[in-house]
Amino acid sequence: MLIKAVEYAEKGRALDFGAGGLRDTRYLLSKGFEVTALDAHIVKKIENVNHEICSFEEFNYPIREYTLINGQFAFPFIAKDKFDDVWERLIQSLRVDGILSGNFFGLNNAWAQHTNANILFHKQDQIETLLQRFTILSLVEKEYERPTAMDETKHWHVFEIIAKKELDF
Ligand SMILES: C[S@@+](CC[C@H](N)C(=O)[O-])C[C@H]1O[C@@H](n2cnc3c(N)ncnc32)[C@H](O)[C@@H]1O
Repeated sequence: MLIKAVEYAEKGRALDFGAGGLRDTRYLLSKGFEVTALDAHIVKKIENVNHEICSFEEFNYPIREYTLINGQFAFPFIAKDKFDDVWERLIQSLRVDGILSGNFFGLNNAWAQHTNANILFHKQDQIETLLQRFTILSLVEKEYERPTAMDETKHWHVFEIIAKKELDF
């Protein structure tokens, strides 16, 4: 999905939101983006990347800065009680014609059974509402069994999105 998103995006500054092990950060670097890797727990740093070791909630999102925001397996981890505020500040940090890519978890995701988990699960219409000021280029629902980072196989229900910010907000 990131490969496709990169094809839509103009080269410029990219935000790897929840960059984790920096796999996508490296890919974006290789494609000529100036990358900011945002994560509360970056375990290593790499050259030519602006590492922001900060929570999603506390990050100072620059206005209309990025041509691409990539949030792979990261949007669901925004704190529930701060989600609306973080989401608004996040999408305002995209430039006009910028591309947003990433995924949300659906209600059939196995983690949705743990009601006390601080993870967000969305229905498709809720995702469409979050993207209502965007042009949706791709919204794909997937369900599959796959190991987690902890190596336990679990049921995944995800919505993969690529959207373009054509309006100025
Ligand atoms: C499931 S991992 C995804 C990592 C990477 N994007 C990938 O696809 O491999 C989620 C990442 O989000 C980070 N994260 C979760 N909640 C966060 C928060 N509230 N603020 C900042 N980072 C957070 C975690 O540290 C983790 O690296």
